[in-house]
Amino acid sequence: MTDKTSPIGVFDSGVGGISVLRALKRLLPSENFIFIGDSANAPYGTKSAEEVIKLSENSLKRLLEMGAKQIVIACNTATAVAADCLREKYPHVTIIGIEPAIKPAATENPGGKIAVLATDLTVHQRRISALYERYSEKADIKLVSCVGLVELIESGHLYDDVLFSYLENLLRDFMDCDAYVLGCTHYPLIKDAFVRILGNVKLYDGGEGTARRSRELLIKAGMLNPGPDEGKITIINTSDDPSLTELSYKLM
Ligand code: DGL
Repeated sequence: MTDKTSPIGVFDSGVGGISVLRALKRLLPSENFIFIGDSANAPYGTKSAEEVIKLSENSLKRLLEMGAKQIVIACNTATAVAADCLREKYPHVTIIGIEPAIKPAATENPGGKIAVLATDLTVHQRRISALYERYSEKADIKLVSCVGLVELIESGHLYDDVLFSYLENLLRDFMDCDAYVLGCTHYPLIKDAFVRILGNVKLYDGGEGTARRSRELLIKAGMLNPGPDEGKITIINTSDDPSLTELSYKLM
């Protein structure tokens, strides 16, 4: 049985979901959170859909066992691939996913050119084609598959020459966009590097929208933690390498 003081369970393929956890914490300071970063199995974006579903279910089950009252999938790839399947299999659980922020980017930049940066698996999902089709009349949307970027971030390249040259190469043909959608939860963690390469451009991510949705559903279910105390954050990382847990707390 869960109650208002039970934690919100959040998971990602690795440290990226911390960007969503930060948005959740800002909006819901009294809530308790348990975050699972599955760095032992990162990246998800190069795996098969079946593998991503299996790994996502493992994290979900672990969070439910730890008493989570709501689940937030803080991973665009896992949301695109596994959210529907998990909702079907766990109909009694409130599962919130994150989507690339194409809607606000297209709405706020009508007629503009928008680059959507995401993992290769995300870029090829039906959910993304649907978003693309819905907003491609509003703006010129370019889907950019960022192969290898999650691995760089997981290994701690947050603002250095290795990352800068990767981004320069990746974005060479997309320097003239009006807005950029960070469609993977790892990417907001390297916002400063994007700004260094692209200048002061508009960057969008789905973290805040996801946090708002989490709060909305908690209110609806009467499960919002009334506080007034500051909630507790527990971070679990599946990797044997302690530096991933350290990196997670540092990013938080
Ligand atoms: N943070 C995950 C996402 O939002 C990264 C996926 C991966 O591990 O490739 O897509």
